[in-house]
Amino acid sequence: MSEVGSRKFVLITGCSTGIGKALVGACRGVGWGVVATARRISDLEDLPGGEDLRCLSLDVVSAESIAAAVSACADLRLVALINNAGYGQMGPLEFLRPEELRAQFETNVVGLQAVTNAFLPLIRDNAARGEGRIVHVASMLGRLSIPLAGPYSASKHAVVALAETLRLEIGKEIPVVLVEPGAIASSFRETLAHAWGDLPGRVQGTCYEPLLANFMKARASHADRFAGSPEQAARCILKALTRKHPPRRILIRPEARLAGWAKAVLPAPAWEWLLRKSYGLN
Ligand SMILES: NC(=O)c1ccc[n+]([C@@H]2O[C@H](COP(=O)([O-])OP(=O)(O)OC[C@H]3O[C@@H](n4cnc5c(N)ncnc54)[C@H](OP(=O)(O)O)[C@@H]3O)[C@@H](O)[C@H]2O)c1
Repeated sequence: MSEVGSRKFVLITGCSTGIGKALVGACRGVGWGVVATARRISDLEDLPGGEDLRCLSLDVVSAESIAAAVSACADLRLVALINNAGYGQMGPLEFLRPEELRAQFETNVVGLQAVTNAFLPLIRDNAARGEGRIVHVASMLGRLSIPLAGPYSASKHAVVALAETLRLEIGKEIPVVLVEPGAIASSFRETLAHAWGDLPGRVQGTCYEPLLANFMKARASHADRFAGSPEQAARCILKALTRKHPPRRILIRPEARLAGWAKAVLPAPAWEWLLRKSYGLN
């Protein structure tokens, strides 16, 4: 069998920046072949080439793009998929447009499941029992909700539900791993600002105007001071591939563990008070 034919490959979505890009190096570093995908293939040009790398364009909201990527992997022993692509649509729910919510779900939820379904037959064909992996990158905001992050948080709650359901349905055959990161310093916050669109204008003169400004300022400075690196996140996610019995959940960063714990133990009024206070809503 050729090198390409025998090597185990993992396909990763959203490799143009951040966690996805870091995952490419991390997976190759432990001997996996990687199908690195991005919406614009030019974003992958700086990846060092090799027999263990295939670069493909893949937009998770396009059925044609997904089908083309599946065809382009037919000759590989693809046994794993990391659904990493995603972005954050923020904004007070009262001012959210239906098309913004739809777009958020199209990428983070519908696209993730469409990619999973498209690659599952290939993974089934290639992987011995228990060898395959489906990894969904959700967020700590998939277990709790904060003000102004409703659309993103709702989409990540949906990702948690999809992962838990898929695990019940196929987990004995193909382990399904849920990744829940806290703050990671990537392009996420820049993209988030683009996804605001004209929202700052829309909330002008409302109670949300100062909250939004504070939110953006706090997120930028928080990212600089406290966020983990994409490489750190990638090293944690690697456990999903390298462990014979991978964990069901991989929580990344102390705040992801702490916030989940606080929500579970605090009485609801106290938890809500804390969040309202942190966001200036009291
Ligand atoms: N950074 C954090 O603090 C954090 C925390 C928790 C969870 N996460 C999750 O971690 C994952 C990776 O995010 P990141 O932090 O690495 O942010 P990032 O640097 O912004 O990377 C996001 C990636 O998703 C891609 N993407 C967006 N829409 C896509 C589409 N329709 N089709 C294909 N790719 C698409 C982006 O591609 P383009 O360059 O083409 O836009 C980019 O490659 C996301 O699911 C995010 O929700 C991040």
